[in-house]
Amino acid sequence: MAADLRTRLGHVELPNPILTASGCAAAGRELAQFFDISRIGAIVTKSVMLAPRSGRPTPRMAETPSGMLNSIGLQGPGIDAFLQRDLPWLLSRGARAVVSIAGGTVAEYAELATRLSDAAGVTAIEVNISCPNVEHRGQVFACDPAAAAEVLEAVRSRARYDIPVFAKLSPDVTDIVAVAKACVSAGADGLSLINTLLGMVIDTDTMRPVLAGETGGLSGPAIRPVAVRCIWQVRAALPGVPIIGMGGVRTGRDAFEMILAGASMVSVGTVIFHDPSACVRILRELDEELSQRGIERLADVVGLAHEPRTAPRRGLAGTAAARRMP
Ligand code: DHB
Repeated sequence: MAADLRTRLGHVELPNPILTASGCAAAGRELAQFFDISRIGAIVTKSVMLAPRSGRPTPRMAETPSGMLNSIGLQGPGIDAFLQRDLPWLLSRGARAVVSIAGGTVAEYAELATRLSDAAGVTAIEVNISCPNVEHRGQVFACDPAAAAEVLEAVRSRARYDIPVFAKLSPDVTDIVAVAKACVSAGADGLSLINTLLGMVIDTDTMRPVLAGETGGLSGPAIRPVAVRCIWQVRAALPGVPIIGMGGVRTGRDAFEMILAGASMVSVGTVIFHDPSACVRILRELDEELSQRGIERLADVVGLAHEPRTAPRRGLAGTAAARRMP
């Protein structure tokens, strides 16, 4: 690798900023046949809940223009099986594990944080307060700053002090900055931006919704500009707070765009379904994007797009990033 891609997940250092996106690679096992999963920054697991769940009925997925709609319903093995089987497996492969958690109540999130803190080897917790596929919108904690803060306060107070806690937010709100500020005030160490958008597809032959769950989460390139906008707005309001960016990243250049908006890590999701080694390809491409521009350190360009346009549009000359360079 030519560029220094090290980045910080809260106070934890990662060798590079490319992570899987929650829900797109279960607990990493399926990806290990395609590449060495210890090479990427971390595996972000499918959201783990307290109890095992079989999820929603099928069909659970629909294709959309430049996107995918899904309604899985938080299927998963539950925290006991995760701790007994999946986490030790990830650690045995040398992978870093960012564990996504989801719950129906504040108490459930708190309990999950306690259980993960009792286990060794959790790199960070991503708190999924924005799953679109729940019984009612009142359960989407990320749609209300006070509810979001309550969850983050509970998780932060139960999670071991050395485990960074990230809040995963929904773009389906009027003011994402208000939710971000509430989470950070409640103790979140960082933010994951963004979860899927709530969408729907109707089959014009059957004249009924395609998904058994009717509505679902929209992901893929169709949502990338929404993600870039959310990262940009939150970075402008909270410049010191680390952001994991995600939403439709397919290439190293897409990842670079999110980094310029303010993300210091980038999760790769939907593209994995047709290119299972996408994470390592995107990592290589990101390195090339930086090297081609003479950028030696990833950390120098996080949020660079916020700096005034005094310099030539390509390259770093004249920017604060260039002044920080030796
Ligand atoms: C599911 C959860 C999510 O957070 C999401 O964005 C999409 C789908 C689910 O399990 O249904």
